[in-house]
Amino acid sequence: MKKIAIAIDGPSGAGKSSIAKALAKSLNIIYVDTGAIYRTVGLYVYRNGVESRDKEKIISMLPDISVKLAYIDGAQHIFLNGEDVSGLIRTETISRYASDVSAIPEVRAFLLSLQRDMAKETSVIMDGRDIGTVVLPDAEVKIFMTASAEVRARRRYKELIEKGESVVYEDVLAAIITRDTNDSTRATAPLKAADDAVILDNSEINAEETLNRVIDIIRSKTQE
Ligand code: DC
Repeated sequence: MKKIAIAIDGPSGAGKSSIAKALAKSLNIIYVDTGAIYRTVGLYVYRNGVESRDKEKIISMLPDISVKLAYIDGAQHIFLNGEDVSGLIRTETISRYASDVSAIPEVRAFLLSLQRDMAKETSVIMDGRDIGTVVLPDAEVKIFMTASAEVRARRRYKELIEKGESVVYEDVLAAIITRDTNDSTRATAPLKAADDAVILDNSEINAEETLNRVIDIIRSKTQE
């Protein structure tokens, strides 16, 4: 297979990462989860007791942050100043921090080359919010994966309950709506579909059917 880049963008909870992971495995190419990069910056800010909206302070901290990605047994691991923080970035607090720090243009600029470099030499599936629009505008395949806020909240709620967390559905839905608004209304690289992206709304279909549709899209785009 010749080198290709597959960009999957969309709001949180649309199932991008599960689909991207499954695809990366079957195509034997790497999966780059760019949300993890923003989460790692969010974690650094949180650990240092800085408020997630303190823009000036966060910008001044960037030179102290080193974010690196590595693949161990096929899984992405993320390192913050040499420490593997992969297991520490998936909390609700860090989700909020990631969403806030990602609205700062200087943070986005700081993380751009790291993301582009990942796709320079090898084929990738990269998911995020601005992959098709900003990070990899020349990607061969661009998919904008979405679902209604209610469907995404229901899936997330189920996941959290299965993990043994005590959460209320309405709170999960409110957090999703806040994050959507935050991510899609920011001035720099907001969440939006690229003009040449295929929109895939999976509100009414399950993960297996979503994967099948994605495979069809990739096939049609790579045979054009
Ligand atoms: O995909 P995720 O939920 O792990 O992403 C966490 C936050 O990072 C999300 O709320 C917005 C931000 N993000 C971004 O701005 N651009 C990306 N390419 C990926 C994530």
